[in-house]
Amino acid sequence: MNNPTTLLSGHNHITLNVGGAQEDYDFHTEVLGLKSVKKTLLYDGQAPIYHLYYGNDTGEESTLVTTFPFRHAGLTATKGSGQISVLTLSVPESSLDWWRNRLEENGFEVTAVERFGEKRLAFQHPCGIDYELVGVADDERTPATHPDIPSEYGIRGVHSISCSVRDLELTDQFMQMGWGSRKVEGDGNATRYEMGEGGPGAIVDYILEPNRAPGSWTFGEGYVHHCAFSVDSLESQMAVKLFLEGLGYTDVSDVKDRGYFYSIYVRTPGGPLFEATYTKPEHFAIDEPRDSLGAQIMISPQFEDSRQELLAQLETIEYA
Ligand SMILES: [Fe+2]
Repeated sequence: MNNPTTLLSGHNHITLNVGGAQEDYDFHTEVLGLKSVKKTLLYDGQAPIYHLYYGNDTGEESTLVTTFPFRHAGLTATKGSGQISVLTLSVPESSLDWWRNRLEENGFEVTAVERFGEKRLAFQHPCGIDYELVGVADDERTPATHPDIPSEYGIRGVHSISCSVRDLELTDQFMQMGWGSRKVEGDGNATRYEMGEGGPGAIVDYILEPNRAPGSWTFGEGYVHHCAFSVDSLESQMAVKLFLEGLGYTDVSDVKDRGYFYSIYVRTPGGPLFEATYTKPEHFAIDEPRDSLGAQIMISPQFEDSRQELLAQLETIEYA
């Protein structure tokens, strides 16, 4: 094996620092029609924070958007360069007009944009994070089931992330040498990289914005925290870690057990935080039945004794 980073196959999940928990829950499950596949807590730091997972009905890799709602903790953050700046979700090309109507009926301001020859609807999460729906003709991923969203219109998963950077040179080096990606095309100030088989679910775009002030890296409401990419085994994950460290990216984290998967994190040269993730075989069914994912708030076993005390500090989420 020459370059272990070619084991990074595409998006696993993208994680956002959002505002209110109920607001986030309603946006993802009602407006966008994603399924709540896990409700749990963030286990970094001292104060309890929800960790909410949304995706298709089984929470498959690359359909997952996860959130940390920070409003009740009073933590805010600023958007800027050195961050993942746009989350782009894939929908069938023929559904864009339908989605525009749905978003506008729900009070969202929608702008039609085009990049890389792809038609997109740009709008914002209620906490201000920039979202897009992009029309794709042949994305075979299975959408979540939702009573108001026909399956032929449903969201297929994460299409791409866009990252705002002030300079591309060191980022290009990291992506091509360290992250197993290839540069595929440019469009104005945007440059596209793909990994694995490429296409929706395996795309990272960089937007060159040399004059944009740097945004936050701390936890706090209002920006994308990190993006995770899949590897197929713990051995592959360790190979990626050791390879990156061997290149000189010595700030790769230790392996962290996140309950449903194992994670390592690396701060990329342009600023965005990336993760390489190995999903446990049981995945979200490790602590609740596969046909009732997301039905309860799951507390990690070491904190189960403090369940009531922890939940009392959090916003109550109303859900069916
Ligand atoms: Fe993550």
